[in-house]
Amino acid sequence: MPESEDLLTLGIESSCDETAAAVLRGGRELLSNVISTQIPVHRKYGGVVPEIASRRHIVNVMPVIDEALQQACVTLSDINQIAVTYGPGLVGALLVGVSAAKALAFARNVPLIGVNHLEGHIFANFLTHQELTPPFIALVVSGGHTALIHVRDYNHFTMMGQTRDDAAGEAFDKVARVMGLPYPGGPEIDKLSVKGDENAIDFPRALREKGNYEFSFSGLKSAVLNYLNEMKMKRVEVNRADVAASFQKAVIEVLVQKALEALSESKLNTLVLAGGVAANSTLEQRLRREADAHNVRFYFPSKLLCTDNAAMIACRGYYQSRAGLFSDLRLNAVPGLSLTDVEV
Ligand code: KG4
Ligand code: ZN
Repeated sequence: MPESEDLLTLGIESSCDETAAAVLRGGRELLSNVISTQIPVHRKYGGVVPEIASRRHIVNVMPVIDEALQQACVTLSDINQIAVTYGPGLVGALLVGVSAAKALAFARNVPLIGVNHLEGHIFANFLTHQELTPPFIALVVSGGHTALIHVRDYNHFTMMGQTRDDAAGEAFDKVARVMGLPYPGGPEIDKLSVKGDENAIDFPRALREKGNYEFSFSGLKSAVLNYLNEMKMKRVEVNRADVAASFQKAVIEVLVQKALEALSESKLNTLVLAGGVAANSTLEQRLRREADAHNVRFYFPSKLLCTDNAAMIACRGYYQSRAGLFSDLRLNAVPGLSLTDVEV
């Protein structure tokens, strides 16, 4: 085995609608990062169709891996270990990546590392910010999850709180859908909000008591739907940009407030943002402003590493391998995998 800084990790990701592969040298030097997105395919259905996603992953997975190896100027025989997302996600989609990783690890006789997708999102930050080290508070906001996590060490996490119902990204997508915006709705609401007045409509914010790190976005989503229906019945024309901006403000306000409280309770001064919703420009601006005001160091991944990719999976896999956290060939997809709240 080479020295750890020369280890080559192949990362594979297929948990939802992106087939991705990446090659990483050591823990943080990205050699390639290939993402084949299925968004245009699912857009006409207004959301991800699981069966179609699985089939597309099957077609894409080997070409994407070959492309990642080629762009990194390496071959499969140079790869020292293979990291793959095994959950959470869509079971059929996950199985494609897991099966490919297992077959390649077996064929090449290299270690296999099963990676939790949520942990991967957090680790995307180590690729963008070489100087970042734990401990810190991570705010993970994606299409499937919203959570505040105390990252104590590279392999030691505590869940402080997560959503009781819809994830933040899911709320963005659902509200966008009823407003007739294309999938995925997050970036569309982000764009539309710029033209709107975020104080135009006072949508509700849930679970705001101090010390409560849980989130709930389904009430907010229903409030937006009710507002739109009411206006339609009254034949009042709505200003869609105002609705988008007011909804977005309600989501962001809660995220920012809880992140600041989590930092203060844990006596930490580093905040890390992760997941697809991290690409939201207003969320990033608000967090940065508050971080500056509270003397908090604030990190978020580059745009490409916010949404699903395999570079973050390779990075997470590398740090697991340093701690001997390998999988064997019995590794299976776990669609409901949760972030461990005990030390691993
Ligand atoms: O992390 P991700 O790629 O997939 C999951 O693991 O879920 O996140 C996708 C989510 C979608 O809900 C999408 O609408 C949201 O991230 N998203 C955004 C933005 N870009 C992507 N939400 C708000 N503003 C954005 N700019
Ligand atoms: Zn994701």
